[in-house]
Amino acid sequence: PALADSDFVIFGGTGDLALRKLLPALYLRDRDGQLPAGTRIVAVSRAGLDDAGYRDKVRGSLPAYVGESEPRELDRFVSRLSHVSLDVDDAAAWIELADRLSVDANPVRVFYLAVGPALFGPICRHLDEHGLVDAESRVVLEKPIGHDLASAEAINDAVGAVFDESRIFRIDHYLGKESVQNLLVTRFANTIFEPLWNAHAIDHVQITVSESLGVGSRGGYYDAAGALRDMVQNHLLQLLCLVAMEPPTYVGRETVRDEKLKVLQALRPMTADEITSSAVVGQYTAGLAEGTAVPSYLEDLETESSRTETFVALKAEVCNWRWAGVPFYLRTGKRMKRQYSEIVIAFKQVPHPMFPGSDGEQEPNRLVMHLQPDESIRLHLVAKEPGPGGIRLRPASLDLNFTQAFGAKSPDAYERLLMDVIRGNPTLFMRRDEVEAAWRWIEPIVAHMASGKSPRPYPAGTDGPPAADTLIERDGRAWHESSSR
Ligand code: BG6
Repeated sequence: PALADSDFVIFGGTGDLALRKLLPALYLRDRDGQLPAGTRIVAVSRAGLDDAGYRDKVRGSLPAYVGESEPRELDRFVSRLSHVSLDVDDAAAWIELADRLSVDANPVRVFYLAVGPALFGPICRHLDEHGLVDAESRVVLEKPIGHDLASAEAINDAVGAVFDESRIFRIDHYLGKESVQNLLVTRFANTIFEPLWNAHAIDHVQITVSESLGVGSRGGYYDAAGALRDMVQNHLLQLLCLVAMEPPTYVGRETVRDEKLKVLQALRPMTADEITSSAVVGQYTAGLAEGTAVPSYLEDLETESSRTETFVALKAEVCNWRWAGVPFYLRTGKRMKRQYSEIVIAFKQVPHPMFPGSDGEQEPNRLVMHLQPDESIRLHLVAKEPGPGGIRLRPASLDLNFTQAFGAKSPDAYERLLMDVIRGNPTLFMRRDEVEAAWRWIEPIVAHMASGKSPRPYPAGTDGPPAADTLIERDGRAWHESSSR
């Protein structure tokens, strides 16, 4: 069925997220004819702009993210935009917003809260008080949903008092990435992996999200969050869920989320001792990023001291039949050597080395799913080295590069996710119970780390503190050396 026209209201409409991600994504979907014709985009912010001023701002910022655009397409998109100046406590401004939205109102209202989580509850309350929410309305919440379990519950209660859970879209943009959705397809649309996808055949799993950038201009937010809250609580745990979950009967609104929730609930809570031995946090010092000297985290923040972690590595365990005894090593950091994300499924050694001379030197199989910047799947095998002189083993691989295979560039995650909001499909968004289960597991780790020693220093442009290598090497394993490194 044709999509209904919507009024897309962006709180934080002049912010970094709106200008860098949301408007470019909406523009690109509009360019491809996917936005319903009557769609209007109302930016709400405290910047005292009129409609013309906001349109000029977006005209100026868009090209950097979407490239050159056709003047006609750009004009059409910009004509959808308007701006309302609003401070959350300013009653008159809410009335102005309500008036604005009531003129030729569209059937669907989407409220996108691209603002700090402290404002989620108050904004929803005002929306309700001004009669702006009906049964078709949706609200989109950007992460972080709180900074611990209690604050997440309070936000979920406040938003839930106004919007039904089926109308609440909590974004984890990793779920909108093509490569992340492909994880599900790789696992469940092929027969060959699933029989091996368990503790019988798998030795361990590695999940790495490595960023070469520093905190940039987001220091204020980041310093109160740190890598555990900013990346692990959401993106890395979502990836872990997709790797570890059971196959749902079908891909439906709740079925995938039900299975992910079970994984989060199966994560073994870590004791204080385990956290000390199985988690490493670090903070970058000055170093070299791709050959250029870059400042330390403290210099980026212009502060004397901070205990915020910009790197974390930890060992998690999923306590169920499928995964008993299989460690999941998670690792993420800013100002690392390279910008890449990958998942490594490390299989067990063959039960018995039968080739002469292969004792101990045969590399076990690995399935490496490279999520970004390039999307590929590489299966590491062992092959016979060509030649007449007997059997010698040599590593070899099967490679699938998605850009080469399909020739298409993947759309940005927000393009997919914003269209899902407009379609009213919450499958790729985090449900309340998932967010809270993730906090329940991570909260003791965050608390323990905050009360312990300072994060370990690591120079920018490296793979994090050496203790992260020790963490895995102690178990007789090593971080996967990506061959594109
Ligand atoms: C965001 C984090 O959610 O994800 C950022 O707040 C991080 O700190 C970003 O840089 C990473 O996303 P991507 O899509 O660049 O891997």
